Amino acid sequence: MLHFLLLSTLLLMAQADPFQLDALIQYVDSHQDEYVETLRDWVAVESDSSDVLKRAELEHMMDITAEKLRKMGGKVELVDIGDQELSDGTKIPLPKVVTAQFGSDSSKRTVCIYGHVDVQPAKKEDGWATDPYNLTEINGNLYGRGASDNKAPVLAWIHAVEAYQALNMELPVNVKYILEGMEETGSNGLDAMISQHNHTFFSDVDYIIISDCGWLSRKPALTYGTRGNCYFLAEVEGPKQDLHSGVFGGTVFEPMTDLIGILDTLIDSSGKILIPGINEAVAALTEEEMKLYEGIEFDLESYQRKIGVDRLMYSSKADLLAHRWRYPTVSIHGIEGAFSAPGTKTVIPAKVIAKFSIRQVPDMDPLLVEKQVSDHLNAEFAKRNSPNKLKVTMVIGAKPWVADLKDSLYEAGKRAVKTVLGADPDMIREGGTIPIARTFQDVTGKRIIMLPIGGFDDGLHSQNEKMSRYNYIEGTKLFVAYLHEVAQVWKVVI
Ligand SMILES: *[C@@H]1O[C@H](CO)[C@@H](O)[C@H](O)[C@H]1NC(C)=O
Ligand SMILES: *[C@@H]1O[C@H](CO)[C@@H](O)[C@H](O)[C@H]1NC(C)=O
Ligand SMILES: [Zn+2]
Repeated sequence: MLHFLLLSTLLLMAQADPFQLDALIQYVDSHQDEYVETLRDWVAVESDSSDVLKRAELEHMMDITAEKLRKMGGKVELVDIGDQELSDGTKIPLPKVVTAQFGSDSSKRTVCIYGHVDVQPAKKEDGWATDPYNLTEINGNLYGRGASDNKAPVLAWIHAVEAYQALNMELPVNVKYILEGMEETGSNGLDAMISQHNHTFFSDVDYIIISDCGWLSRKPALTYGTRGNCYFLAEVEGPKQDLHSGVFGGTVFEPMTDLIGILDTLIDSSGKILIPGINEAVAALTEEEMKLYEGIEFDLESYQRKIGVDRLMYSSKADLLAHRWRYPTVSIHGIEGAFSAPGTKTVIPAKVIAKFSIRQVPDMDPLLVEKQVSDHLNAEFAKRNSPNKLKVTMVIGAKPWVADLKDSLYEAGKRAVKTVLGADPDMIREGGTIPIARTFQDVTGKRIIMLPIGGFDDGLHSQNEKMSRYNYIEGTKLFVAYLHEVAQVWKVVI
C-alpha cells in the first residue's frame, strides 16, 4: 500500500501541468526579444536556393534548423532527397529536408507543419534601405530577406512547441515538422520525398499545416485556396539566322510577327480568355461565395495606390477578389530571342520563344489546358499561312488547391484567432500558387489548413521584405493556441 502510494505520488509529480493559455501567452511575451534574436541569426544566413554558389550557406541553414529542433528533444532527421541537375549537366546534392517529431502518443492527433528556410535572392543595391541579411527593426517592423517568407513563421511554430516544453505543459497533439530548402526554386525533390515517405513519416499524420502566405489586410485571415499555374513556351522558328530588315523585310514571314499575332489571341483587353474550353471549365460562382467576398476587409483604392495604376480591371471589391482568387488569367512574361537591348537595331530574329502562364482554378485540369492551348495556338497559327514552325510546350502544370470552408480544421483556426487576436479572421484565398499544398493533398490524402501570420504588406520576394514584431509574436501565440484547438478536431469531416 505504501509502495503503491509512493509510486502514484511519483507518477503525479512527473505528470505535466494542465493547459493554461494565459501562462503560455505570458511566456511568449517575456521571450519575444530572444525570438527576435533567433530570427536575426536565421536571416543572417544567406540561404538563397536560386544561387548554386550559395549552396554551402543553404546547407548551413538546414543544419541550424535541425540543430534547433534536436536541442528541443525532437526526433530529427536530415533526409537526403537526391541531386539537382544544373543547366550544364553537372549534378550537385539538393539541400536535405529536415523532419522532426515531438511526441508519438497514439491517443493524440498528429499535426505536421510544413515550412521552408530558403529565401529569394537579395542585394542591398537592388533598392533595400537596410542590409537584407542583417535583421533591422524600424518602427516595429523587422526588415530582412526571408523574415516573412518563411523564416519567422517557421520559428513561430518552433517557439510554440518550445513554450509548452518550457512550462512543462503536455503538448495537446503530436507535432511533426517538414522543413525544406528549395521552395523558392520549385521544391525540387520534395514531391518524390513525400511519396517515398507516405507510409512512414506521413502515415500517422492527421493534418498538415502550412504557414507560407500572408493576410490580405490588417485583419487576420485563414487561407482556404490557392490558384495553380500552367506555364507555356511558344516557339516560332523561321530563317536559319537573324536577318537584316533592310535587306529581307517584306520578303519573309517574320517569326516575331507570327508570335505576337498568336499571343494576341489568348486574352482580350477586358480580361476575357479567348482559348476555347477554358472558361467553360471554371466552377460556377455561388451567391454564398460572392457574399463572402463582399464581407472581406480589402480596400480597392489603397490596392490601386500600392501598385501605382490609374484604374483596375474591376471596380467592385467582390469582382476584383473573385478575379484574383477564383478565375483563371493569362499573363505574358517575356520573349526569348527578341531584341531587348537599348538602341534601334533593325533585326528580324530568326527564332523567338514566348513565355506565358495561365493561373489555374477549380475545375480546370492542367492536362486538358495543355491540349486546349496547344490546339488553339496551332489553329491560330495555321490561319496565318506561314511557313515558319510553331512549337508549344507546357513546362509547369500545377493544379489549384481549395479546402472545404466548413472543415473543422478551419473552425479550430477561427477559435484560435478569436482567442488570441480578438477578431474573426477573413476567409481568403491566394492568387498565387503554392504547389506543395496540392501535392500533400493528392499524395498523402491528409486534410490541410493554411494558417498565415505574415502581414499584407510584407514585401515577399521584393526589396525591404519585413515581418512586424506584432505579427511574429502574436503569430507565435496564435500557433500555441491552435495546437490546443486542433487537438479537439474530429478526424473525420462531419
Ligand atoms: C547590422 O546592422 C547594425 C546597425 O546598422 C550594425 O551595427 C551591425 O554591425 C550590423 N551587423 C552586421 C553583421 O553587419
Ligand atoms: C498514402 O497513404 C495514405 C494512408 O495514410 C493512403 O490513403 C494514400 O492512398 C497513400 N497515397 C498513395 C499515393 O499511395
Ligand atoms: Zn514562401
